[in-house]
Amino acid sequence: MVVAIDGPAGAGKSSVARAVAGALGFTYLDTGAMYRAVALAARDSGVSAADVARRVRIAVGDRVTVDGRDVTEDIRTPEISEVASVAAADPAVRAALVEEQRRLLRSGDWVAEGRDIATVVAPDAEVKVFLTASPEERARRRAEQLGADPARILAEQRLRDERDVGHGRSTLGAAPGAVEVDTTGLSLDEVVDRVASLVRDAAGARG
Ligand code: DC
Repeated sequence: MVVAIDGPAGAGKSSVARAVAGALGFTYLDTGAMYRAVALAARDSGVSAADVARRVRIAVGDRVTVDGRDVTEDIRTPEISEVASVAAADPAVRAALVEEQRRLLRSGDWVAEGRDIATVVAPDAEVKVFLTASPEERARRRAEQLGADPARILAEQRLRDERDVGHGRSTLGAAPGAVEVDTTGLSLDEVVDRVASLVRDAAGARG
């Protein structure tokens, strides 16, 4: 079964997807980490992001590796957030990574997370969730994670939201058939419970 979780930056996709996967015993697929890894490898090697996406082996499990090199922490800097957003706007990068994501999702039980998961990568996923939160709440959470100024994060988030639109990415709205979950004011546990119960309903309906 595939559970597809998307939504804008800071809506809590990663924390929710990881926790839901843990609760259900599914594998977590962080597609954003793949875009980040490609951007990092392109920056470090001077090779174009499109060529990196086609050539390198990216593994996104508990640790994120690029051709075996562990980049788990290095991909989480504000600088890589910026270059990843630019790389993700390149259709050649997207084509290569979407193909790899579809290959992974073909077998097994997954909680997959990313902007185009429910629209492009896995539109037939049994469960589709669109996580939202108010822009201020999203910026507040990110600022807390990074120890940064919320006003600056809010301004950067606005720019990134604008750039992250297009290529079938549902930054601003839910995919057809997706259930919208507004996480503003909810705890992680409450959100995870909501999503896990959607999965149980779908599994029950499937029989
Ligand atoms: O979710 P994140 O911040 O780790 O994602 C990094 C960048 O990649 C961000 O600019 C959104 C983009 N992205 C995308 O375009 N499609 C995805 N499936 C996942 C991430």
